[in-house]
Amino acid sequence: MLSNGPLPIEHVARKHQAYPGSQYTLPADDEELQRLTLQHQILKELFGNRILLVPVHLDVNDEVLEIGTGPGLWIMDLAKSVNTSIPMFAIDIESRMFPVLPPKQIEFRVESATRLPAEWTNTFSLVHQRLLMAGLQRSDWPIVLSEIYRVLRPGGWVQLGESAAWGGEYPGKPCLEKLTAMVRSIGSSRNLNLDCAKDIPKMLADAGFLEVQSESRMQRVGKWDGESGVINCINQVAIFKAYKTPVLKAGGMGYVSSEEEYDLLLEGVEREWDEIPGTEKEFFIFWAKKPLVQLH
Ligand SMILES: C[S@@+](CC[C@H](N)C(=O)[O-])C[C@H]1O[C@@H](n2cnc3c(N)ncnc32)[C@H](O)[C@@H]1O
Repeated sequence: MLSNGPLPIEHVARKHQAYPGSQYTLPADDEELQRLTLQHQILKELFGNRILLVPVHLDVNDEVLEIGTGPGLWIMDLAKSVNTSIPMFAIDIESRMFPVLPPKQIEFRVESATRLPAEWTNTFSLVHQRLLMAGLQRSDWPIVLSEIYRVLRPGGWVQLGESAAWGGEYPGKPCLEKLTAMVRSIGSSRNLNLDCAKDIPKMLADAGFLEVQSESRMQRVGKWDGESGVINCINQVAIFKAYKTPVLKAGGMGYVSSEEEYDLLLEGVEREWDEIPGTEKEFFIFWAKKPLVQLH
């Protein structure tokens, strides 16, 4: 391993957010928009073409909120399958990926999950949030879940989607091990909870939610799993690629000393996934209900 160098490594930098106080790691640019579009399809198919696992039938008296919406793929998909007069809000700390011409019923707004508008108390029948693992600090999670609890109507539902993080040892896969170590270092330097999927059921219960439930599916990565393995590989390589700017800005974190070295790791990890069968990653969808009668 190289020693930690404080000087940023020169490279073609991706565009990242500048929301005050945000530790969000991934970029907000066209390449990320394409990746998120592919990922939305992957996740939809992984769960049998279902995007909503909450047992709720939405009608005109309901309102829906999506937090960390990015390009709004999930909420625009939901809007297609429900009554067009159901009001929907989609928020994110960054507007760069918002759709140019959103459906009329969805209002896109720049807001943070950690501080939802005061006037939204007891408003929504459904709140959705997916993949904030690279954005929320450990101390943010209880705040965000209590904000969601506050803005839900009594009896309303929250649905959260999060992935397991890469971690541990991967015998015979040195590139995967190095990239994993870099992502983990970025995560700990920003105090993110990359393993939030393990903690979410307890955090939901602690926030006062009832009927905490979940489903999970394995995402198999590499050619050995056929077409879906190839598509998962494209997405997972793109996620590691999205960490390039934070890693190089931090001087390579003792793992790489140039952009070329980082790119070689990206090529290497793809080869490892394709040539050595067996790598998989779990994706979780959690849902829970705000009680009809508040005890606290
Ligand atoms: C990995 S993307 C996922 C986008 C979308 N949920 C999806 O699944 O396609 C994470 C999104 O969360 C947003 N984000 C990060 N921190 C946030 C915060 N504190 N409040 C609201 N959005 C946040 C990012 O700007 C980014 O658009």
